[in-house]
Amino acid sequence: MGNDSDGFHIDNYKGYHTAGAMTRIYGGGVNPDAVNVILQFAASGESEEISLLDYGCGYGRYIALAEYLGERGFKVNYVAYDPFVQALQQCEGNLVGKNYTRIGGADLNADFDVMPKDMSYAGPIYTNGNVTVTLLHGEFHVNPDRIRQLIGERDISLCMLGTLSHVSEFDERVEIMRMFDKMSRLGLIMELPNKDIAWKDEQAKYQELARTQGGVFGLKNPGISDIYYSRPNGHGGELQIYLHLYDKDTLNQELNSAGINNALVTGTTATAKVPVRDFAASVRRQSLEQSPDFMVVLAKKNIDIQVDIGVVLGPGRI
Ligand SMILES: C[S@@+](CC[C@H](N)C(=O)[O-])C[C@H]1O[C@@H](n2cnc3c(N)ncnc32)[C@H](O)[C@@H]1O
Repeated sequence: MGNDSDGFHIDNYKGYHTAGAMTRIYGGGVNPDAVNVILQFAASGESEEISLLDYGCGYGRYIALAEYLGERGFKVNYVAYDPFVQALQQCEGNLVGKNYTRIGGADLNADFDVMPKDMSYAGPIYTNGNVTVTLLHGEFHVNPDRIRQLIGERDISLCMLGTLSHVSEFDERVEIMRMFDKMSRLGLIMELPNKDIAWKDEQAKYQELARTQGGVFGLKNPGISDIYYSRPNGHGGELQIYLHLYDKDTLNQELNSAGINNALVTGTTATAKVPVRDFAASVRRQSLEQSPDFMVVLAKKNIDIQVDIGVVLGPGRI
């Protein structure tokens, strides 16, 4: 499923992680709307044990949520997946800094930015007692069989802060959604950028470049559904990160293609930086029309998820 722009994307993400830009920009909190839903999923399970997959985990922002669950008596088994070893190295550094103890697993293999096909591996495993975190170094293009082979089913799958939007192929995004749907016992949650509200300057810029240059490298629909955003490279320059933008119709189309036709979709701000403990006071009311991000919630067990944040359309509709 590779394409010509893979090398370009991979080099830029590597720079992004190495420069620590993600931690600086998105560090220090989680999305309270998402925490609200994830805690409802957790409460709906019949067990005190809970397993999560954080797909495209970055430096491990949502490990704070696992710790919050751990403090409330859950035994949490958390898999933090990212194709970039630089992201996982940051995760690992943060765990060590928080006094987690390593209890096994393979070392992170710094020889590969992203793993060659069928080579994903479960890396080091850390625990603080209630929370066990496995760092999973995956492939740039999803490999559901390998992921399933390595980690099996999960109670909850997370795909936060637009991670799915970093995947440039429609078929691959659909495959990832289908994988989450199949492997998640309680439910899944995804945050995706809303093109009607967010990244307007970039949309205009890439439409204009496409018009004047006849196209933009690596973007199928420049400025329409595909953009790059700039981030500092740590050396005084910038690097370009690919992002796929959704509107309600294209989101609906992908969900339906993945066989997901009963998701709740609400408005949210995925970049909210609220300490997990303060989530209850910070859950926001936002309409789908005014929110920079969509939050897709799929409950697998007929749980009546309360999403206390404005418009919830569904099931079956967006
Ligand atoms: C904006 S960050 C979000 C990180 C994290 N989910 C959070 O909430 O802080 C996007 C993440 O997607 C990862 N990523 C980039 N391309 C990917 C791909 N093809 N498959 C899976 N993850 C990818 C990046 O390495 C990065 O960690």
